[in-house]
Amino acid sequence: MDAPRDPTLGAAYDAHYAAENFFGYRDWLYRPFVRSLARRAGLEPGARVLDLGCGQGQFTALFHDLGCEAHGVDLSPAGIRSARSTYRGSRLSFAVGDALELACREEFDCAFARSCSLYNRDDFAADRRVTDRFLDYVRPGGVCIFDYHTSLDPRRRSSTWRHHTLSDLERHFAAYPGTETFFTLRVETLALGARALGPRASRTTAALSRAFGLGGELVAIVRKQRAARVA
Ligand SMILES: C[S@@+](CC[C@H](N)C(=O)[O-])C[C@H]1O[C@@H](n2cnc3c(N)ncnc32)[C@H](O)[C@@H]1O
Repeated sequence: MDAPRDPTLGAAYDAHYAAENFFGYRDWLYRPFVRSLARRAGLEPGARVLDLGCGQGQFTALFHDLGCEAHGVDLSPAGIRSARSTYRGSRLSFAVGDALELACREEFDCAFARSCSLYNRDDFAADRRVTDRFLDYVRPGGVCIFDYHTSLDPRRRSSTWRHHTLSDLERHFAAYPGTETFFTLRVETLALGARALGPRASRTTAALSRAFGLGGELVAIVRKQRAARVA
């Protein structure tokens, strides 16, 4: 697929992933968040989940802990080595690979991508090639969960990470009818679970992120249309 990739990216992530839990994920925050996402997306135990750009596999593992059959793929060999070592003995599977070039089609109930670098681009709002590709891996009626770390405070800028906005998210996913888009600080899922997620709650959490520079996640839940029956 003709989506531009950054050739320096692999080496950069390989260096990061020499450290265990490079991003410093905290289980108390992410476990209820992922459980709430899965519930909101209607994933049942046994669902086949493909984690695209899985890094060191923490999110893949959280889906596995919910009873899903979870597979992680990442471009970084160091990330995959780290994931295999951390979760050895589990039924999780991890592979080195390019998330745009996987040799499978409509095999998964869910394609999940959290902060995948393929979305860290200036033209994210308008360029849908990555999402279209990820949807290829999902069976009709399945879901693609887009999850991207950001801050909505315009003062928080980074030289390496694009902090996409809610309006970028909405523009990107406007092409997929029925998609639910929202922003979450994650922490609210601790008390409220899946009820904390969705466009209504997003208004409050987005205002908090803008005012106080709090980081959170842009989320889109895209359901892949079933093919129309021909009579
Ligand atoms: C910001 S990290 C996020 C990792 C993980 N999803 C997480 O949330 O911790 C971005 C990841 O995307 C991976 N990546 C970038 N381009 C990729 C590609 N074409 N195929 C698979 N993984 C890719 C990088 O190697 C890196 O692990």
